[in-house]
Amino acid sequence: MKTILVTGGTGFIGSHTCVELLKAGYQVVVMDNLSNSKADVVKKIETITGRTVPFYRADLLDVPSMDRIFREQKIDAVIHFAGLKAVGESVEKPLLYYQNNVSGTINLCEVMHKHDCKTIVFSSSATVYGMHNPVPMTEDMPTSATNPYGYTKVMLEQILTDLHTADPAWSVMLLRYFNPIGAHESGLIGENPNGIPNNLLPYIAQVALGKLPCLGVFGDDYDTVDGTGVRDYIHVVDLALGHIAACRYAFSHKGVEIVNLGTGSGTSVLQMIKAYEKASGRAIPFAIRPRRAGDVATCYADTQKAKDLLGWTAQRDIDQMCKDSWRFTVQNA
Ligand code: WQD
Repeated sequence: MKTILVTGGTGFIGSHTCVELLKAGYQVVVMDNLSNSKADVVKKIETITGRTVPFYRADLLDVPSMDRIFREQKIDAVIHFAGLKAVGESVEKPLLYYQNNVSGTINLCEVMHKHDCKTIVFSSSATVYGMHNPVPMTEDMPTSATNPYGYTKVMLEQILTDLHTADPAWSVMLLRYFNPIGAHESGLIGENPNGIPNNLLPYIAQVALGKLPCLGVFGDDYDTVDGTGVRDYIHVVDLALGHIAACRYAFSHKGVEIVNLGTGSGTSVLQMIKAYEKASGRAIPFAIRPRRAGDVATCYADTQKAKDLLGWTAQRDIDQMCKDSWRFTVQNA
């Protein structure tokens, strides 16, 4: 039975991926520095799956603590979620983001190499498609970024590609997520950001709950169905299952593969508000605000490669995403 180290495993996408890995029969070890999540998520993963999960509180910049994990556990592959991901914060603190995300990942790869573990599934992002690519996004398009966070993803895709070029024994999966939302059906794990949410869904959830008074809609003059931003929202459980498919592929292939994980369809902000009102039975007051810097009008995935290479497609629709998000929000209010 193969063992997967999940860095950032107490986070939103990481915790859902741990659940699906365990259900698929893998052993899972979690590493997290708890900078944006809580240790009790490990217990919730164990409750959902009935399995034991070793947890190491460790940081990407603390090489000895990562080395200890590989000395104590026989790690066959790493799914690497750990990283800072707030776009606005990255503009204010670029060195923090380059050090943590880029240097930290280099540290991880060096420890992996030392312990002869050369299979990595990396958490990249649709953000690398930048502002100038047409939709639907395909994996062969040029990459760019509009902020240091996005540049860390662009750089890390290049670093991991170069690592394989230098040592073909590596198997590298670069997974580009679109907009992950929703929660596990148990309501035990979900998206629980610290402070005021940056992203649309956790913000809408807080408004539905009554914890925030009104949603600001960042622009209604885009060239879209109703003028508001259109994105490819994907259920976090579908995203987690995409990682299982990527792991399976990585264990039987060497090389580098870039794969979009999205649904291939777009939803506007106003359409999302309506869907959430339907799922929650609550009104979502909103006000139109100026556009947010760095936002594109429309972004959604071409999903053909994920289907052809991994045999994976997203199954859950927007209504399911909102229903599962609302259940988690109410249960964890
Ligand atoms: C979605 C839509 C906003 C908040 C971000 C990161 C990206 C990735 C996914 C990590 C846009 C609008 C939002 C609000 C709004 N994260 N919006 N009011 O920007 O597509 O992607 O999360 O990899 O890197 O950039 O997601 O949820 O912030 O915005 O109107 O209060 O909702 O303008 O059209 P985004 P988002």
